[in-house]
Amino acid sequence: MVALTSMVDYNVEEGVAVLTLNNPPVNALSQGVRQGLKDGVEKALADDSAQAILVFCEGRTFIAGADISEFSSGPMEPNFHAVLSTMDGSPKPIVAAIHGTALGGGLETALCCNYRVAVGSAKFGLPEVNLGLLPGAGGTQRLPRVVGVEKTLAMVTSGVPIGAAEAHKLGLVDQLVEGDLRAEALAFAKDKAAQGGSHPRVRDNDDKLQSAKDNPEIFAATRKMLARKTRGFLAPEYNIRCIEAAVNQPFDEGLKTEGKLFAELMSGPQSQAQQYFFFSERQAGKVPGLAEDAKELPIAKVGVIGGGLMGGGISMNFANVGVPVTIVETSQEALDRGLGTIRKNYENTARKGRLTEEAVEQRCGLIQGTLDMADLADCDLIIEAVFENMAVKKDIFTRLDGIAKQGAILASNTSALDLNEIASVTSRPESVIGLHFFSPANVMKLLEVVRGDKTSDAVIKTGMALAKRIRKVAVLVGVCPGFVGNRILFMRQIEASKLALEGAPIEQVDKVLFDFGFPMGAFQMGDLAGLDLGWDKDNSNPMDVKDRLCELGRRGQKTGAGFYDYDEKRMPTPAPVTAELFAEVAAAQGVTQGDISDEEILDRCLLPMINEGAKILDEGIAVRASDIDVTYVYGYGWPVYRGGPMHYANSLGLDKVLAKIRHYHESTGDDFWAPSPLLVSLAEQGKRFK
Ligand code: 3HC
Repeated sequence: MVALTSMVDYNVEEGVAVLTLNNPPVNALSQGVRQGLKDGVEKALADDSAQAILVFCEGRTFIAGADISEFSSGPMEPNFHAVLSTMDGSPKPIVAAIHGTALGGGLETALCCNYRVAVGSAKFGLPEVNLGLLPGAGGTQRLPRVVGVEKTLAMVTSGVPIGAAEAHKLGLVDQLVEGDLRAEALAFAKDKAAQGGSHPRVRDNDDKLQSAKDNPEIFAATRKMLARKTRGFLAPEYNIRCIEAAVNQPFDEGLKTEGKLFAELMSGPQSQAQQYFFFSERQAGKVPGLAEDAKELPIAKVGVIGGGLMGGGISMNFANVGVPVTIVETSQEALDRGLGTIRKNYENTARKGRLTEEAVEQRCGLIQGTLDMADLADCDLIIEAVFENMAVKKDIFTRLDGIAKQGAILASNTSALDLNEIASVTSRPESVIGLHFFSPANVMKLLEVVRGDKTSDAVIKTGMALAKRIRKVAVLVGVCPGFVGNRILFMRQIEASKLALEGAPIEQVDKVLFDFGFPMGAFQMGDLAGLDLGWDKDNSNPMDVKDRLCELGRRGQKTGAGFYDYDEKRMPTPAPVTAELFAEVAAAQGVTQGDISDEEILDRCLLPMINEGAKILDEGIAVRASDIDVTYVYGYGWPVYRGGPMHYANSLGLDKVLAKIRHYHESTGDDFWAPSPLLVSLAEQGKRFK
């Protein structure tokens, strides 16, 4: 065995040169891997004892792509093309032995091999679009020549990988292996060498491009289909252009087009934001300072108090991964309604072909209902998901304290209330944690894990691990009103209302936010959540337009009217009554109404969010700036191609952000705009949020 680099070994076995890659955790194509692959192929070509070449990866996976952490340091030799053209030019057959995930540059490497052998659990994909990129090592030119144009378009624009069985059917995998991958791939390579003759090269076969040549409308149809979903993103369109080039240009020209468009994306702000986000998401799961000996607690049975939309959605997350759930409701009618909604949700998914009938039954079977909280006595985790009322929550936790077994985790799904106060009514505040799910809880990826003053490290570790188990992304936050997500959102909503009071039509405010990339604006979001959330009919504020709308029975989308009027398809139209109410309240408060520019609207909506994020960091409520960004992208629809509020602030420049915040502070004299000391200090030192 010869070590070509620290990451690639060379060894000839039974006439096959085996290049063994070892670059944990995911065998990314770091410089040492690229160098080793290139040197290994060149060595094998000069080695008379080798008649074939096998690329095999140690560890949990085949190459999962380029090394994303190298992107920021600029190109390092050898570049992908130098490596892959060496492989492409090999007269000796090269076989890729694939397990785990062949993604991005990994699949592109495999496509430069003459043959691909894989285990049944392997996955194949070009997920570069998720990083704001396109496959830049020939993937857009080679994949359509193997799986066809239509399939490639689906794969590169969604980034979703396909399984080994499908890859085999499509011709991407030559042989599926059931036994020992290395041994069978070696035998396969030996066979191919023995057969002699020339070996197929993906680049030479244009057959599968023909149907798209005959049917160029496929590109327009793809663009149309994706328009809504990919609004604001550059990378999906660039990926499509590359596949068009594969169809319309000779291979080498197509490669050049791919290279040019790849470079454009790579140097642009969207990809930088998305690459930052890739690492931020993974970072969020790591909690510094937890006791190493604190052990994760086993969660085999879950109780959920409240079977409404929230409780039902939360329960589905657990049933989806095979964990039995007991839902507690206060009446049989509410329980039946809750369980019925869950079943309906599953059946809808099944109708769309995304779940089998058996799976529907199996998941529904895992969710039981009861009217008796005592039935939760054997649960390892109990999540309270009733409406936001401190007295009610305290009553529930007092009762739970007498029912739950010792060591059980008692969680509240509160979105804003003081978790320490809730925990204080129990004899075991160390077992109390916040698990703030976002609505719809079975869909939204974010989970705010709220750490109370006394929450134990073991309970925090369990909360974070649990999120991963139910396929959520967890962000650890401390206790303050609204935690991280809602506390920041309050700032935007307050300023949006002020803008409307000063004369900006709500549809203008919403359009500015929509154009920035949010799925909807502040007022549409209010209507979706329900304007009566937190509204107290007996203490309705006549100076608050939201309260006034509630008094009129306009409580949001659910009542067909809120800030907007809604038709049967829930499409909003501006409601004159809303503008009248804002004008009336403005007059009563002596606020002059006038035109407000889109630019001012954007600044006034986003800058308070950044400022609040800085305060949250300063107070230690969030562990790191990137956690705030993860919260905003996964919980509030902040466009990932802008990275999140803290990344966005960094990209604008903190000095510029501070100057604008100071301008509004001085011009309004309102403490709302007082800049965070952290922001001031970072901006004055020319630093960024970290
Ligand atoms: N580069 C650098 N680091 C990577 C990486 C990559 N391509 N892929 C994963 N990692 C790191 C992660 O940051 C993480 O590091 P950490 O432990 O320090 O946090 C570690 O590997 C494990 O990753 P995950 O926690 O995500 O592990 P999972 O088992 O959940 O998932 C995976 C594994 C499916 C491979 C997932 O990591 C993944 O999707 N990776 C990205 C794949 C990708 O996007 N490839 C394309 C890259 S771009 C490219 O190839 C350009 C080319 O066309 C020129």
